[in-house]
Amino acid sequence: MAETPYPPELMRDVAKRRTFGIISHPDAGKTTLTEKLLLFGGAIQLAGTVKARKSARHATSDWMEVEKQRGISVTSSVMQFDYQGHTINLLDTPGHQDFSEDTYRVLTAVDAAVMVIDAAKGVETQTIKLLEVCRLRNTPIITFVNKMDREVRETFDLLQEIEEVLKIDCAPITWPIGMGKTFRGVYHLLEDRVLRFTAGEEKRSEGELIKGIANAQLDELFPLEVGKLREDVDLIQGASTPFSLGDFLAGKQTPVFFGSGINNFGVQEILQALIDWAPPPQPRVAGTSGADTRLVQPAEAPFTGFVFKIQANMDPKHRDRIAFFRICSGRYTSGMKVKHVRAGRDMKLANALTFMANERVLMEDGVAGDIIGIHNHGQLHIGDTLTEGENLGFKGIPYFSPELFSAARLRDPLKSKQLQKGLQELGEEGAIQVFEQEGGNMLLGAVGQLQFEVVAQRLKDEYKVDAIFESADIHTARWLTFPDELTRRNFEREQAMRIGKDVDGNPVYLASSRYNLEVTMEKWPKVGFHATREHGQVLA
Ligand code: G4P
Repeated sequence: MAETPYPPELMRDVAKRRTFGIISHPDAGKTTLTEKLLLFGGAIQLAGTVKARKSARHATSDWMEVEKQRGISVTSSVMQFDYQGHTINLLDTPGHQDFSEDTYRVLTAVDAAVMVIDAAKGVETQTIKLLEVCRLRNTPIITFVNKMDREVRETFDLLQEIEEVLKIDCAPITWPIGMGKTFRGVYHLLEDRVLRFTAGEEKRSEGELIKGIANAQLDELFPLEVGKLREDVDLIQGASTPFSLGDFLAGKQTPVFFGSGINNFGVQEILQALIDWAPPPQPRVAGTSGADTRLVQPAEAPFTGFVFKIQANMDPKHRDRIAFFRICSGRYTSGMKVKHVRAGRDMKLANALTFMANERVLMEDGVAGDIIGIHNHGQLHIGDTLTEGENLGFKGIPYFSPELFSAARLRDPLKSKQLQKGLQELGEEGAIQVFEQEGGNMLLGAVGQLQFEVVAQRLKDEYKVDAIFESADIHTARWLTFPDELTRRNFEREQAMRIGKDVDGNPVYLASSRYNLEVTMEKWPKVGFHATREHGQVLA
């Protein structure tokens, strides 16, 4: 056998990892499916665990409470469990659109996604946005059409809508028999068997199996539905493209499953698809010193990875933060020394955490695809890369140009130091974007209004600063790049009033209107105006 350059145990362990996120429009059933996956995976014993957390969070209309309860909600940000000899990492994506920046970043850390669609509603706005993000990296998508126990839309209609709106081919793997009160189960197109649906009680196993679509048992059991099922199956077998693993892995085709999360129906198939079809940790592009990039292979021995999320207030008594870090290669061992590439410094990784459904536990062993939680006091920023010495920066973790802007004004002017510190830290965490203008003015940029509210409350609680946010006369922001030093200086002199620095010190043009932006761009054709910026671009 040909020798591979990679350690065999590492290759074996990496091949067993599956790291994915669930995307859906709010209310389609993401929380329910998460819980059922954990239940089937044996990670939780009782249904209701994740759900209880969610209702505890939503019981209050006061969003600030949500932030206060981070200690509870955070364990559900990442969950690891074993299923059929595989280690599965499920990353939670915030459902509310106002926190979509966070969601985008989480999706940079997955290798596959499960898309949940409410069968009565079809493709909804947030699904469209999230799918666009997945498409940026050609993330393979498994589709779960949920709530078949309700009166829902016609199956062919739904598939057509997914194909047309989301521009992805559908390969139905199961096919529903009836819906709502007459939902009888699904026919598995690849395995030629019917899985019978029985509503009701919480259980881990699914319904009874009936082999073969021609089976007379089906005529006995479902005399009213079986005719339509056979017609439908004839039609799809003739008309729809069959499942292709290659097209799925390329993000061009999605296998579609029908079920009812709340009734545990169809969940096992999703887990099976994750194991059988979803890719193990994939190679990742990283910038190296200079302008070059290289592919980092997951089974390379040296440890590498990047921070995709920062979470504060895990422990309200200490103001530490947890950096959620995706391992991209090598193996984590407690006490290992790593290089923090942006800072150009070494640091020791000890006591990293891993997250089971109900608890955080010390990480003992982690390989590519696994997520570890690293305690830190602000050294680590979103997008930061850690390596065992190599100067690398993982790509593709974006900041988006904010759509809403406010200026922070203090009620008590003596607190300006605290305000500055608070905003700097919240900016580094990615809770909001912060731009500092000449004269120390702090400008906040957000994608959703709720971000401002959360920041105001956190400033008050954690930094004891009472700030008022006033709407700022800014239309949009663009990150700037300059062809040479002279252009930079001239531009900065002329446009001083419209320039700010982001939390990492990068210059940003703050346009007062679309017209203002166009005029400035025309006047400075050599200056680059960028609507997104990648985190962690600075290489030591
Ligand atoms: P989300 O995380 O995507 O926002 O959705 P979540 O799982 O919270 O589900 C949204 C609502 O849809 C919940 O009802 C949930 O019980 C229901 N649901 C989820 N899966 C199914 C299904 O397969 N069939 C049916 N009929 N309903 C389903 P709720 O009334 O908002 O909450 P709750 O009172 O049930 O907790």
